[in-house]
Amino acid sequence: TAPVITIDGPSGAGKGTITQLVAKKLGWTLLDSGALYRLTALAAERANVALDDEQALSELALSLDVKFVPGDYGQPVNVLLDGNDVTRDIRTETCGNNASKVAPLPKVRAALLQRQRDFQQLPGLVADGRDMGTVVFPEASAKVYMTASAEERAERRYRQLKDKGEDVKIATLLSEIQERDARDTGRATAPLKPAEDAVVLDTTGVGIEEVLAQVLALVEK
Ligand code: CDP
Repeated sequence: TAPVITIDGPSGAGKGTITQLVAKKLGWTLLDSGALYRLTALAAERANVALDDEQALSELALSLDVKFVPGDYGQPVNVLLDGNDVTRDIRTETCGNNASKVAPLPKVRAALLQRQRDFQQLPGLVADGRDMGTVVFPEASAKVYMTASAEERAERRYRQLKDKGEDVKIATLLSEIQERDARDTGRATAPLKPAEDAVVLDTTGVGIEEVLAQVLALVEK
Protein backbone atom coordinates (compact mmCIF):
# COMPACT_ATOMS: atom_id res chain seq x y z
CA THR A 1 0.00 0.00 0.00
CA ALA A 2 1.00 3.59 -0.61
CA PRO A 3 2.70 5.57 2.18
CA VAL A 4 0.70 8.27 3.96
CA ILE A 5 1.84 11.42 5.78
CA THR A 6 -0.78 12.87 8.10
CA ILE A 7 -0.83 16.55 9.04
CA ASP A 8 -3.34 17.31 11.78
CA GLY A 9 -3.91 20.34 13.95
CA PRO A 10 -6.24 23.16 14.89
CA SER A 11 -7.85 25.74 12.65
CA GLY A 12 -5.45 28.14 10.97
CA ALA A 13 -2.21 26.38 11.93
CA GLY A 14 -0.98 26.53 8.34
CA LYS A 15 -1.61 22.87 7.56
CA GLY A 16 -3.16 23.64 4.17
CA THR A 17 -0.13 25.53 2.91
CA ILE A 18 2.36 22.99 4.25
CA THR A 19 0.34 20.05 2.93
CA GLN A 20 0.36 21.55 -0.56
CA LEU A 21 4.08 22.20 -0.47
CA VAL A 22 4.89 18.71 0.84
CA ALA A 23 2.66 17.08 -1.79
CA LYS A 24 4.27 19.16 -4.52
CA LYS A 25 7.79 18.42 -3.32
CA LEU A 26 7.18 14.66 -3.17
CA GLY A 27 4.82 14.49 -6.16
CA TRP A 28 2.19 12.83 -3.95
CA THR A 29 -1.61 13.10 -3.90
CA LEU A 30 -3.24 15.50 -1.47
CA LEU A 31 -6.30 15.03 0.72
CA ASP A 32 -7.91 18.16 2.14
CA SER A 33 -10.33 16.41 4.48
CA GLY A 34 -11.68 19.71 5.82
CA ALA A 35 -13.01 20.40 2.32
CA LEU A 36 -15.27 17.35 2.64
CA TYR A 37 -16.79 18.71 5.87
CA ARG A 38 -17.12 22.13 4.24
CA LEU A 39 -18.81 20.55 1.19
CA THR A 40 -21.23 18.69 3.44
CA ALA A 41 -22.13 21.98 5.15
CA LEU A 42 -22.53 23.74 1.81
CA ALA A 43 -24.65 20.94 0.34
CA ALA A 44 -26.84 21.08 3.47
CA GLU A 45 -27.34 24.81 3.10
CA ARG A 46 -28.30 24.38 -0.55
CA ALA A 47 -30.69 21.51 0.17
CA ASN A 48 -32.22 23.29 3.17
CA VAL A 49 -31.05 20.56 5.55
CA ALA A 50 -30.67 21.71 9.16
CA LEU A 51 -27.14 21.59 10.59
CA ASP A 52 -28.27 19.28 13.39
CA ASP A 53 -30.26 16.80 11.30
CA GLU A 54 -27.72 14.01 11.65
CA GLN A 55 -29.49 11.42 9.53
CA ALA A 56 -30.12 13.74 6.59
CA LEU A 57 -26.60 15.20 6.82
CA SER A 58 -25.00 11.77 6.79
CA GLU A 59 -27.02 10.81 3.71
CA LEU A 60 -25.86 14.02 2.03
CA ALA A 61 -22.25 13.30 3.02
CA LEU A 62 -22.45 9.78 1.64
CA SER A 63 -23.89 10.85 -1.69
CA LEU A 64 -21.86 14.06 -2.26
CA ASP A 65 -21.02 14.39 -5.94
CA VAL A 66 -17.57 15.93 -5.57
CA LYS A 67 -14.70 16.36 -7.92
CA PHE A 68 -11.29 17.73 -6.93
CA VAL A 69 -9.67 19.18 -10.04
CA PRO A 70 -5.92 19.42 -9.60
CA GLY A 71 -4.55 22.87 -10.44
CA ASP A 72 -0.98 23.72 -11.24
CA TYR A 73 1.25 22.37 -8.54
CA GLY A 74 1.28 24.54 -5.46
CA GLN A 75 -2.03 26.10 -6.47
CA PRO A 76 -5.19 25.12 -4.66
CA VAL A 77 -7.29 22.61 -6.56
CA ASN A 78 -10.70 23.51 -7.89
CA VAL A 79 -13.59 21.82 -6.17
CA LEU A 80 -16.80 20.88 -7.99
CA LEU A 81 -20.06 20.04 -6.23
CA ASP A 82 -22.70 18.54 -8.55
CA GLY A 83 -20.56 19.76 -11.42
CA ASN A 84 -20.51 23.39 -10.24
CA ASP A 85 -17.33 25.18 -9.18
CA VAL A 86 -17.61 25.84 -5.42
CA THR A 87 -13.91 26.49 -4.78
CA ARG A 88 -14.59 29.92 -3.31
CA ASP A 89 -17.95 29.12 -1.69
CA ILE A 90 -16.43 26.49 0.60
CA ARG A 91 -13.65 28.82 1.80
CA THR A 92 -15.81 31.44 3.49
CA GLU A 93 -15.80 31.84 7.28
CA THR A 94 -19.48 30.93 7.41
CA CYS A 95 -18.90 27.67 5.59
CA GLY A 96 -15.95 26.87 7.89
CA ASN A 97 -18.06 27.51 10.96
CA ASN A 98 -20.90 25.42 9.58
CA ALA A 99 -18.43 22.64 8.78
CA SER A 100 -17.32 22.56 12.39
CA LYS A 101 -20.98 22.13 13.41
CA VAL A 102 -21.60 19.12 11.18
CA ALA A 103 -18.17 17.59 11.95
CA PRO A 104 -19.01 16.39 15.49
CA LEU A 105 -21.87 14.21 14.22
CA PRO A 106 -20.71 10.56 14.30
CA LYS A 107 -22.83 9.50 11.31
CA VAL A 108 -21.40 12.31 9.19
CA ARG A 109 -17.84 11.29 10.09
CA ALA A 110 -18.65 7.64 9.36
CA ALA A 111 -20.14 8.60 5.99
CA LEU A 112 -16.94 10.39 4.97
CA LEU A 113 -14.49 7.76 6.24
CA GLN A 114 -14.21 5.49 3.19
CA ARG A 115 -14.20 8.45 0.81
CA GLN A 116 -11.11 9.75 2.62
CA ARG A 117 -9.36 6.36 2.63
CA ASP A 118 -9.94 6.05 -1.11
CA PHE A 119 -7.47 8.92 -1.63
CA GLN A 120 -4.61 6.62 -0.61
CA GLN A 121 -2.69 5.87 -3.80
CA LEU A 122 0.84 5.47 -5.13
CA PRO A 123 3.32 7.02 -4.93
CA GLY A 124 1.88 8.41 -1.68
CA LEU A 125 -0.67 10.63 0.05
CA VAL A 126 -0.38 13.75 2.20
CA ALA A 127 -3.55 14.06 4.31
CA ASP A 128 -4.56 17.28 6.05
CA GLY A 129 -7.17 17.38 8.84
CA ARG A 130 -8.01 16.80 12.48
CA ASP A 131 -8.12 13.01 12.76
CA MET A 132 -5.94 11.84 9.87
CA GLY A 133 -3.35 10.24 12.17
CA THR A 134 -5.76 9.11 14.89
CA VAL A 135 -8.72 7.68 12.95
CA VAL A 136 -8.50 7.74 9.16
CA PHE A 137 -4.89 6.60 8.59
CA PRO A 138 -3.69 5.16 11.91
CA GLU A 139 -1.00 3.19 10.05
CA ALA A 140 0.53 6.32 8.41
CA SER A 141 4.30 6.30 7.97
CA ALA A 142 4.79 9.85 9.31
CA LYS A 143 2.43 11.87 11.50
CA VAL A 144 2.66 15.57 12.19
CA TYR A 145 0.57 17.60 14.63
CA MET A 146 0.95 21.23 13.62
CA THR A 147 -0.12 23.99 15.93
CA ALA A 148 0.50 27.67 16.76
CA SER A 149 -0.82 30.13 19.33
CA ALA A 150 -4.45 31.17 18.82
CA GLU A 151 -3.31 34.79 18.35
CA GLU A 152 -0.91 33.87 15.57
CA ARG A 153 -3.49 31.66 13.88
CA ALA A 154 -6.03 34.50 13.97
CA GLU A 155 -3.47 36.82 12.44
CA ARG A 156 -2.64 34.39 9.62
CA ARG A 157 -6.32 33.88 8.89
CA TYR A 158 -6.81 37.66 8.88
CA ARG A 159 -4.14 38.16 6.23
CA GLN A 160 -5.54 35.29 4.14
CA LEU A 161 -9.09 36.64 4.18
CA LYS A 162 -7.96 40.21 3.58
CA ASP A 163 -6.04 39.09 0.50
CA LYS A 164 -9.30 37.64 -0.76
CA GLY A 165 -11.08 40.92 -0.10
CA GLU A 166 -13.16 39.69 2.86
CA ASP A 167 -13.90 42.36 5.42
CA VAL A 168 -13.13 40.89 8.86
CA LYS A 169 -11.95 42.01 12.28
CA ILE A 170 -9.04 40.29 13.94
CA ALA A 171 -10.79 40.14 17.33
CA THR A 172 -13.74 38.36 15.71
CA LEU A 173 -11.41 35.87 14.06
CA LEU A 174 -9.65 35.19 17.36
CA SER A 175 -12.89 34.42 19.16
CA GLU A 176 -14.04 32.26 16.23
CA ILE A 177 -10.77 30.32 16.37
CA GLN A 178 -11.16 29.81 20.10
CA GLU A 179 -14.74 28.63 19.64
CA ARG A 180 -13.71 26.29 16.85
CA ASP A 181 -10.83 24.91 18.96
CA ALA A 182 -13.28 24.22 21.78
CA ARG A 183 -15.69 22.44 19.42
CA ASP A 184 -12.92 20.44 17.71
CA THR A 185 -11.21 19.30 20.93
CA GLY A 186 -14.34 18.93 23.05
CA ARG A 187 -16.38 16.68 20.79
CA ALA A 188 -16.87 13.02 21.65
CA THR A 189 -16.18 11.61 18.17
CA ALA A 190 -12.64 11.98 16.83
CA PRO A 191 -11.68 14.90 19.07
CA LEU A 192 -8.72 16.95 17.91
CA LYS A 193 -5.56 15.66 19.62
CA PRO A 194 -2.13 14.51 18.50
CA ALA A 195 -1.83 10.81 17.65
CA GLU A 196 0.37 9.01 20.16
CA ASP A 197 3.07 8.61 17.54
CA ALA A 198 2.76 12.12 16.06
CA VAL A 199 5.53 14.69 16.12
CA VAL A 200 4.19 17.99 17.47
CA LEU A 201 5.39 21.08 15.60
CA ASP A 202 4.63 24.44 17.20
CA THR A 203 4.88 26.89 14.31
CA THR A 204 4.38 30.08 16.33
CA GLY A 205 6.91 32.51 14.89
CA VAL A 206 8.30 29.89 12.49
CA GLY A 207 8.32 30.63 8.75
CA ILE A 208 6.84 28.40 6.06
CA GLU A 209 10.21 27.30 4.64
CA GLU A 210 11.41 26.20 8.08
CA VAL A 211 8.20 24.26 8.84
CA LEU A 212 8.39 22.62 5.41
CA ALA A 213 11.99 21.55 6.06
CA GLN A 214 10.99 20.07 9.44
CA VAL A 215 8.15 18.06 7.92
CA LEU A 216 10.28 16.79 5.02
CA ALA A 217 12.99 15.76 7.49
CA LEU A 218 10.42 13.56 9.25
CA VAL A 219 9.39 11.94 5.98
CA GLU A 220 12.96 11.17 5.01
CA LYS A 221 13.66 9.44 8.33
O1 CDP B 1 -8.68 25.39 9.04
P1 CDP B 1 -10.15 25.47 9.17
O2 CDP B 1 -10.65 24.94 10.47
O3 CDP B 1 -10.70 26.80 8.86
O4 CDP B 1 -10.82 24.58 8.06
P2 CDP B 1 -10.77 23.08 7.64
O5 CDP B 1 -9.49 22.43 7.99
O6 CDP B 1 -11.20 23.09 6.24
O7 CDP B 1 -11.90 22.36 8.55
C1 CDP B 1 -13.20 22.84 8.65
C2 CDP B 1 -13.87 22.15 9.84
O8 CDP B 1 -14.07 20.75 9.54
C3 CDP B 1 -13.04 22.16 11.11
O9 CDP B 1 -13.40 23.19 11.99
C4 CDP B 1 -13.32 20.82 11.77
O10 CDP B 1 -14.35 20.93 12.71
C5 CDP B 1 -13.80 19.93 10.66
N1 CDP B 1 -12.85 18.88 10.30
C6 CDP B 1 -12.89 17.69 10.98
O11 CDP B 1 -13.68 17.54 11.91
N2 CDP B 1 -12.09 16.65 10.62
C7 CDP B 1 -11.21 16.78 9.63
N3 CDP B 1 -10.44 15.74 9.31
C8 CDP B 1 -11.11 18.00 8.93
C9 CDP B 1 -11.95 19.04 9.29
